[in-house]
Amino acid sequence: MTTATALDVTALRADFPILSRTVRDDKPLVYLDSGATSQRPLQVLDAERDFLLNHNAAVHRGAHQLAEEATDAYEHARAAIAGFVGAAVDEIVFTKNATESLNLVAYALGDDRSAPLFGGKALGEGDTIVVTELEHHANLVPWQELCRRTGATLRWYGITDDGRIDLDSLELDESVKVVAFTHQSNVTGAVADVPELVRRARAVDAYVVLDACQSVPHMPVDFASLGVDFAAFSGHKMLGPSGVGVLYGRAALLSQLPPFLTGGSMIETVTMESSTYALPPQRFEAGVPMTSQVVGLGAAVEYLEKIGMDVVAAHEHDLVVHALDRLGAIDGLRIVGPRDAQMRGGAIAFDVEGIHAHDLGQILDDEGVAIRVGHHCAWPLHRQFGVQASARASLAVYNTLDEIDALADAIGVAQRFFGER
Ligand SMILES: Cc1ncc(COP(=O)(O)O)c(C=O)c1O
Repeated sequence: MTTATALDVTALRADFPILSRTVRDDKPLVYLDSGATSQRPLQVLDAERDFLLNHNAAVHRGAHQLAEEATDAYEHARAAIAGFVGAAVDEIVFTKNATESLNLVAYALGDDRSAPLFGGKALGEGDTIVVTELEHHANLVPWQELCRRTGATLRWYGITDDGRIDLDSLELDESVKVVAFTHQSNVTGAVADVPELVRRARAVDAYVVLDACQSVPHMPVDFASLGVDFAAFSGHKMLGPSGVGVLYGRAALLSQLPPFLTGGSMIETVTMESSTYALPPQRFEAGVPMTSQVVGLGAAVEYLEKIGMDVVAAHEHDLVVHALDRLGAIDGLRIVGPRDAQMRGGAIAFDVEGIHAHDLGQILDDEGVAIRVGHHCAWPLHRQFGVQASARASLAVYNTLDEIDALADAIGVAQRFFGER
């Protein structure tokens, strides 16, 4: 395999046994679907296994040794994850995925107990929530629901022809209370100008919610420096387990936010009539949490830190440059997103003239190349581009330049099969 930049990708791939398996008549697997879910290194599996074999117990309950060890492991992971994204420990809330994190914020902000966060008046008619046309449904539908519940109005930034947020398409005014947007599009790979979007939101006193699902696994991200109020990401997209997501919230805001799910562990006092709630993050972690997954996510963070997020970003940048080069040279292929690698990550959606994305996905699969096809949970974006479905290759730190070549070659096979070229 060819290597790029300072990363010894051949050595790194040895940590991911699944990457050396074959598929479909002994074709080497070329996994280019990490935007949907990434593969996990042995170090993450080992951490989960060690936890389950030796320390498993319900956390934050009980006085026995295993319960103590489990709680320590869980909180150690929280500290590692907090450090990884520039947060304080009590600013990290564990959820089951990014979707739940975004629902938590959208739901809690719509609760009338959040009124102090909006100058004493609960969200309602006359207020505006702003998103973008680039959003994954996970950062769109919860805001639609919030508007439906409260009477607030949903507005959005449109997109440019190359699939970036069009900052000229919307002026914010004092009615805007929340601006929610994706850090890196899971379709076009466009990286948002976060400082500028934060500046605009601050100018009208709106809160900023960042969907960091496709950025945290691929580049250094520091939520405090970015100045966002809330952010969401998922374990399974960053070499960690599925079933665990993270909500970041600025401490001053989380402490004023009412709970989302209620029940055990998130309370301070309970009588038959009413309850008071624990401080964050426990207030937002009702019930026994997904403990081994949190421990696994802590190990994933330590694994990425050991490589260095700068090295991860540089390696993926080289892959993107090569992919744009190879795909850009294919006649009849249109990239749905920026054609240059500046402020652009490794989600590369494309459309091949005369071949439906699903047919393309099937031929690529026959060649051992695993990509995603469909609308990638971003239907409005596809509508805007006038396509029902696109093909998407999405990269991670373990991919190689040779795998990009395999993708380009497989697209050629599909074009010949369908008689397009
Ligand atoms: C940009 C973005 N936001 C949100 C999500 C939702 O993540 P999850 O399904 O893990 O909750 C995804 C997953 O594809 C995504 O790519």
